[in-house]
Amino acid sequence: MHTRTLGQGLQVSAIGMGCMGMSQSYGPNPGDRGDMIGVLRTAVDRGVTFFDTAEVYGPYVNEELVGEALAPVRDQVVLATKFGWRVENGTPVGLDSRPEQIRRVADASLRRLRTDTIDLFYQHRVDPDVPIEEVAGAVAELVQAGKVRHFGLSEAAAATIRRAHAVHPVSAVQSEYSLWTRDPEPEVLPTLAELGIGFVPFSPLGKGFLTGTVDTTTAFTQGDIRAGIPRFDEDNLAANRALVDHVTALAHARGATPGQIALAWLLAQQPWIAPIPGTRRIERLAENLAAADVALSADDIADLDAAAARIGVHGDRYNETHMGLVGK
Ligand SMILES: NC(=O)c1ccc[n+]([C@@H]2O[C@H](COP(=O)([O-])OP(=O)(O)OC[C@H]3O[C@@H](n4cnc5c(N)ncnc54)[C@H](OP(=O)(O)O)[C@@H]3O)[C@@H](O)[C@H]2O)c1
Repeated sequence: MHTRTLGQGLQVSAIGMGCMGMSQSYGPNPGDRGDMIGVLRTAVDRGVTFFDTAEVYGPYVNEELVGEALAPVRDQVVLATKFGWRVENGTPVGLDSRPEQIRRVADASLRRLRTDTIDLFYQHRVDPDVPIEEVAGAVAELVQAGKVRHFGLSEAAAATIRRAHAVHPVSAVQSEYSLWTRDPEPEVLPTLAELGIGFVPFSPLGKGFLTGTVDTTTAFTQGDIRAGIPRFDEDNLAANRALVDHVTALAHARGATPGQIALAWLLAQQPWIAPIPGTRRIERLAENLAAADVALSADDIADLDAAAARIGVHGDRYNETHMGLVGK
């Protein structure tokens, strides 16, 4: 696996590992905790050095899982986690990026991750009640104290990224980006290019949709967030399916899988982009990592872009409440 450089010299594997689904969001886990530790360690064996978690995943248990799995190889990996939610009785109840909360979360995350420094500490969502300068200042103090190495933002608007970066250099912005989620293209990506900040696309497989394994016959199990996402409504799914069919046809022509084409398309956008697909299955992990070796031509990219533009996307990527938290 080749490496890529995000902002401020932060080096990561071209394809990272999103760990969230091991603890939430996609219904019952096909494996147990030991299996998930096995998946994480297999990822390391296959060259992944970039792992993504958050305080709120679980909450807490995902950081604990990642901390335990990667403790033996701690010095070989980049651990990214996130602050910014207020969690009460195990449930996220709202945003909270007050400096005292950021300091508290950092200490708790360090303990759960079994480490003495967080490599990349993202604000999970911009908090309208706390000026971003205060957030950046609090993270800068944690960097000074050696508890954090790099500062990141998630789903922030270009203007917010600029303001944060002016207080403390931002190394990475993480937002949803894939063939069917193009929101970062008009403003965020050009701003990152200008400021020398890396980009980490989350849900790079379109929450599984772009792998071709989700269709109108898919019954989302309890705890699967896709049941509440407009794009995955039956009618929207049926309309969106044309994009996956197009991706699948190209995949067959290139001897790849649709998911690999989706990841290769992301990797081709910029050398400072490192997607973090999530899976709980070793065979899918291998498939996803092999996308780093799938080369798409300029014609392939143009063909995919044209198909995405022609077909369009039906339905929002979040419900109304969560849509209200992005792009701030
Ligand atoms: N910053 C944020 O607000 C934010 C939000 C969402 C996610 N994230 C991060 O981004 C990571 C990835 O996003 P995501 O998990 O939402 O979406 P994703 O990576 O686009 O898709 C994950 C889904 O696809 C399935 N899948 C994975 N590889 C597959 C393959 N090769 N073939 C068929 N299905 C496959 C997974 O199921 P199985 O597990 O059963 O394989 C899971 O249902 C998360 O783990 C998290 O770390 C961040």
